[in-house]
Amino acid sequence: MLKYDAVIFDLDGTLTDSQSGIFACAEYALKKMGLPVPPEATLRRFLGPPLAESYMKYCGMTEEQAAYATDLYRERYIPIGWKENRVYPRIRALLSALKERGAYLAVATGKPEHTSVDILRYFGLLPYFDAVAGPTPEDLHADKGRLIARVLPKGRRAVMIGDTAGDVKGAQDMGIDSIAALYGYGEDSEVLSQGPMHAVKTTEELCRLLCPDMPEAKGCFVTLEGVDGCGKSTQAKALAERLSQFGYTVRRTREPGGCPIAESIRAIVLAKEDGGMCAETEALLFAAARAQHLKDVILPAVKRGEIVLCDRFVDSSLVYQGIARGLGLEWVREMNRFAFQEGRPDVTLYLRMDHGEALRRRLAVSQPDRIEQAGDTFHAQTEAGFETLYRLEKDRYLAVNAAKPAQEVTEEAFAALFARLLKGGVL
Ligand code: TYD
Repeated sequence: MLKYDAVIFDLDGTLTDSQSGIFACAEYALKKMGLPVPPEATLRRFLGPPLAESYMKYCGMTEEQAAYATDLYRERYIPIGWKENRVYPRIRALLSALKERGAYLAVATGKPEHTSVDILRYFGLLPYFDAVAGPTPEDLHADKGRLIARVLPKGRRAVMIGDTAGDVKGAQDMGIDSIAALYGYGEDSEVLSQGPMHAVKTTEELCRLLCPDMPEAKGCFVTLEGVDGCGKSTQAKALAERLSQFGYTVRRTREPGGCPIAESIRAIVLAKEDGGMCAETEALLFAAARAQHLKDVILPAVKRGEIVLCDRFVDSSLVYQGIARGLGLEWVREMNRFAFQEGRPDVTLYLRMDHGEALRRRLAVSQPDRIEQAGDTFHAQTEAGFETLYRLEKDRYLAVNAAKPAQEVTEEAFAALFARLLKGGVL
């Protein structure tokens, strides 16, 4: 049985960390006004209270200047700033576990209600909540107690979780228990002096308190594949950032390489002067590097519950050595089966692109390595090879049109990947 079957969360500093977006917008306004940006310790004071108040208190502005600074802040916050949020790790899994166990979940926040709903929706958290309360145009200055009252259900054991003394006081005003989220940005001494019922230093501790039988974090092994120059590295970087904003712990890695021994093998296999390397040697070296990489990096990270994002994996060997170099799919499969028993990717993001266009883009920015020098027929075969694997493994593959502008590719790839993670219970 749950200790509390009605759980009310504050948003900023409890469910999400909005610090980087708020700092960036506060700085943007100050720079536009030609004013100095205060040190980070001062900017931290902007988290929580109304903006205009902070501009007056910490930047010496008049009321009029503060109103103008607030307008400038919004100029950046509305299109970009609100998305520069980070869901704290394990929060999504906690919400899901509480919901599964029949809890009523709500948010009571000092952030305007419509913005809060937008943030929760964007980060895929809204479906977990039964109610959201924040200041509305009709009730701009509602205190925490009043906001809690709006979402508090009758006849349940309720608790309020927040990172500030105001959250604890609001809970006390409404006669319910409170948990101080010390991982947020409220001053620990202030929030503790308000006398919360419990205090937690991490979201992991919060999980243990609210839902002790919750499952461990589930990891996922994701690979990125595609022809040379299809933009995998750019996408891997952007996807890693997006996943971590959504609360996942991400380990980015690549093949060949990813750990010291495999990186040494990479230097041999991609060296330009080794024009005489035979296809068998090449295939064995890729498999050797992979065995070490899996053992040292990939499997331990997945076991810890992380998302591993790996730039190329065994599918590249099947395509490059098996198909394009002509060794045959079966032989390459067999050899890799010897190199590692566990380690099949859970998901493969396939960045689909014409090989000629991809190579042109690649050569415009860097010198070709030994494999990239292999000629058009070879690269045409790699494209056909990936198409074959895609047809054979539609369950594992998520195909994305990689010829579009990079940002659009990221949007499409992330949406597909996130949906797959949720479906697989990777929270
Ligand atoms: P890299 O510089 O990482 O290229 P990219 O960014 O396109 O992945 O070089 C890796 C090269 O090695 C690339 O041409 C594909 C090739 N390769 C294989 O031939 N077999 C394999 O098993 C792997 C992992 C890569």
